[in-house]
Amino acid sequence: MTDTTASLPTDGGVDPEVPGRRRTTFHTLTVAEVRRLTADAIEVTFAVPAELAGQYDYLPGQYVALRKELEDLDGNMVELRRSYSICAEPTDGEIHVAIKRDIGGIFSTWANESLVAGDTMDVMSPTGGFISKHKMTGMNDPESIDVENEDTFVAVAAGSGITPVMAIARTVLAANKNVHFDLVYANKAAMDVMFLEELADLKDRYPARFALHHVLSREQRISPLLSGRIDSEKLNKLLGAVIRTDQVDEWFLCGPFELVQLVRDNLAAQGVPAEKVRYELFTTGEPNRPEGNIGRPVLIDESDETYSIGFKLDGLQGEVKSPVNARETVLNAALRVRPDVPFACAGGVCGTCRAKVVEGAVEMDENYALEPDEIERGYVLTCQSRPTTERVLVDYDA
Ligand SMILES: Cc1cc2nc3c(=O)[nH]c(=O)nc-3n(C[C@H](O)[C@H](O)[C@H](O)COP(=O)(O)OP(=O)(O)OC[C@H]3O[C@@H](n4cnc5c(N)ncnc54)[C@H](O)[C@@H]3O)c2cc1C
Ligand code: FES
Repeated sequence: MTDTTASLPTDGGVDPEVPGRRRTTFHTLTVAEVRRLTADAIEVTFAVPAELAGQYDYLPGQYVALRKELEDLDGNMVELRRSYSICAEPTDGEIHVAIKRDIGGIFSTWANESLVAGDTMDVMSPTGGFISKHKMTGMNDPESIDVENEDTFVAVAAGSGITPVMAIARTVLAANKNVHFDLVYANKAAMDVMFLEELADLKDRYPARFALHHVLSREQRISPLLSGRIDSEKLNKLLGAVIRTDQVDEWFLCGPFELVQLVRDNLAAQGVPAEKVRYELFTTGEPNRPEGNIGRPVLIDESDETYSIGFKLDGLQGEVKSPVNARETVLNAALRVRPDVPFACAGGVCGTCRAKVVEGAVEMDENYALEPDEIERGYVLTCQSRPTTERVLVDYDA
């Protein structure tokens, strides 16, 4: 069992101000089962030993990062980290994820072709902010489940974006008999639909409370509304026909950038307050993979102008110089001197690399992960942040 970060509290370092955000750590877990969902997707179950139970509690909607050394496209061995949302309601002793093959993708292709029960893999403790603002469940704490409110939730998911939604829908429908849940699920064709049987089961179990609307872009369904690509016009009609937008308490959007943005814009135009809308992106289309920076030496000339970057991590302070003309992110610079600096997507979407700026200033490119109040409190995504002052100090433990 590998614990790459020592001295975390037993609750996994959960941030009391932002439930769901925690300092993360990797442990080696064993694959208990690999189940094929579609020709291009698998569900993977990891066994969580009892002594690590506190580290692997989670809220429905959160994800884990998986870490593995694999060959890159040039044939070099590289350490890859990829994030996968947990697709089951919180269950003691198990973590379930679903991995869809991304054409040309290194990790997802390897997992779909080669991963088998009995394999081991480094799995990060769950984290992420794609969680309900309604009190649905604490970290595996049934006592705190809100069983009274008559809430209406709507999810719009596409492709593998269904994974966190499965966890959320299963949990809220089981926890609260007053909850109504509508799911609009977009795929190319019926054969691509992940969790087809499980979704049908949910419908059978909660016929009056769970409504499922499959939209297929490359297949004709009986209703034209449910066939073809979702564009602005179709979305307007779809939401108008099946969902009473003004009565929805919380929205969950997960899928490709364009679809999530389209739904967010549409809801904003209809006057839905942003605080009712949760969204998660799996990629911005431009991931800036920093793996190559781990342990990489950088030669700095005496005459080079440099930024001085300090970072606190697990109680220890690291220091690194970064050439001004390199325009490095804080994460990239920090990884050169400490390979355990936390990151997963490196694209500004997951939030794993969050740290608080305690000295100096940075500018952040993309942010699809931090809430406005976290930014106000000084948090940044270090994978997206570049120094704008000669000295910068960030705190990953804050
Ligand atoms: C919070 C979060 C949750 C996620 N949850 C899930 C989930 O539940 N299920 C799921 O399946 N995925 C999920 N993802 C996405 C997942 O993390 C991976 O990004 C995905 O599996 C692809 O990884 P890969 O290594 O296979 O692809 P990569 O090797 O990273 O490649 C990604 C894409 O880029 C293309 N590409 C790579 N290199 C180049 C290049 N040089 N030029 C042009 N194109 C290139 C590839 O062809 C491929 O299409 C999630 C992501 C995040 C951030
Ligand atoms: S590593 Fe995912 S947001 Fe920075």
